[in-house]
Amino acid sequence: MTDAPRTTATNGAPAASDEHSLTVGPGGPIVLHDHYLIEQMAGFNREKIPERQPHAKGSGAFGRFEVTGDVSAYTKADVFQPGRRTDMLARFSTVAGELGSPDTWRDPRGFALRFYTDEGNYDLVGNNTPVFFIKDPMKFQHFIRSQKRRADNNLRDHDMQWDFWTLSPESAHQVTWLMGDRGIPRSWRHMNGYSSHTYQWVNAAGERFWVKYHFHTDQGVECFTQDEGDQMASMDTDYHTRDLWEHIRDGEHPSWTLFVQLMPYDDAKTYRFNPFDLTKVWPHADHPLVEVGRMTLDRNPENHFTQIEEAAFSPSNLVPGIGISPDKMLLGRMFSYADAHRARLGVSYPEIPVNRPHVEVRSYLKDGLGRHHNPGDPVYTPNSYGGPYADSPAGDSEVGWQSDGEMVRAAYTAHAEDDDFGQAGTLVREVMDDAARGRLVDNVVGHLLNGVSEPVLERAFAYWRSIDPAVGAAVEQGVRAKADEKDPKAAQQGNAARSSAQEKA
Ligand code: HEM
Repeated sequence: MTDAPRTTATNGAPAASDEHSLTVGPGGPIVLHDHYLIEQMAGFNREKIPERQPHAKGSGAFGRFEVTGDVSAYTKADVFQPGRRTDMLARFSTVAGELGSPDTWRDPRGFALRFYTDEGNYDLVGNNTPVFFIKDPMKFQHFIRSQKRRADNNLRDHDMQWDFWTLSPESAHQVTWLMGDRGIPRSWRHMNGYSSHTYQWVNAAGERFWVKYHFHTDQGVECFTQDEGDQMASMDTDYHTRDLWEHIRDGEHPSWTLFVQLMPYDDAKTYRFNPFDLTKVWPHADHPLVEVGRMTLDRNPENHFTQIEEAAFSPSNLVPGIGISPDKMLLGRMFSYADAHRARLGVSYPEIPVNRPHVEVRSYLKDGLGRHHNPGDPVYTPNSYGGPYADSPAGDSEVGWQSDGEMVRAAYTAHAEDDDFGQAGTLVREVMDDAARGRLVDNVVGHLLNGVSEPVLERAFAYWRSIDPAVGAAVEQGVRAKADEKDPKAAQQGNAARSSAQEKA
């Protein structure tokens, strides 16, 4: 006998046995009316839901955001007013790997945040990198497919990745960042988070500002080398998940200080590059960091599935005083996430407890699979019976900007420095020192030697030469030398072909 409570069936009545199915005699056939056995089997068969298409592997925790600065001159958002404290959820992830893939693969990390504010849920769905690989949502699906598995052998393929990157030169800044030291964080606690996109803030007087968010880790930035990441991937697939969980369990609560960069609304037109280009950072010299507050994660989920796997973050979850910008990627994301949630979690996903705002929801949406909080009558508006009404003046959460022009499908290159390679070159030459540049070259060479073939290889050398001639030369030399070690005969043929091509040129 045990003091543990009795198991029940889903109707709450005591279950007869968790060990024996109902049979005709001890060795006899199982009877169909053992509905409790069938409930167990049927539930088990339906336990898995689709994983997130990108960012499948991850985990997270709950916490709080405390405002320490005063940015009320720039936004009226309640969550960022002086002294405010707001409950939060954070989820960290890798992008390309599936559920179960190693935490320490070289990949950007998702940095998805939810603020349960008094004005509704505000989600900031960012990464640990301030930039991204592409700048038009048309290319996102193709980009992710190039990172995932091949159609034929179901293997990931560096040739495919470099093929896409080298044919998409706007990826140069993010690829340089990814191949550098910060490409494998030591833990989620040791990485920064960024909005990456430019957003819009509106203050109480209706003045508009462009804003970028930077969450600086208070634990200090620490990274794994490629070797350390590889070793950890084989020793502990879930190293980052475990690290976060154990530190929070042991009372060592990680924290991040939020800073923002601000740009007055009108300055965007005349800035030296498109300030809404997701492949660019705003130099701190032009737009210094302004402190906003601190995020602290202090509570582990009690249930990973219901609180993390079923969390449905979306950049479209905005609150008054915070809006989007003309960044085409961000505009594309306004649609994509809620659609992904409807597909992955069902149309009633906003009712899953972790997704429910901590304020009352008064929506006219009704019925649908899985709904259990339905509006009462009247279920339409306008009505004469006191139902909720919407009259937010334009400029609340739907902050905007002036827009005009022909409808086109075109790159936006109206600014003097709207190039692909400039900031990647600055990162290599001015942010990295010799040792960091050496590790960058080693990482790229290792990546290219892992299955990248012509014509992609030659294009990869040109790509790196465009970022920085010296790094490009070192990458080519490194790849050729290692390839020659492996296959001296092919090396001789390659050298002959190259010198004859050079002579002809
Ligand atoms: C996850 C789409 C760009 C950060 C996802 C998901 C989709 C998606 C469909 C899966 C959502 C789910 O099933 O819960 C897109 C599209 C993009 C884009 C269409 C560009 C047009 C970005 C960018 C960032 C980002 C630029 C970072 C700045 C994330 C994060 C997650 C995610 C952190 C995981 C959220 C979580 O933890 O649940 N994205 N994405 N994405 N994306 Fe994006």
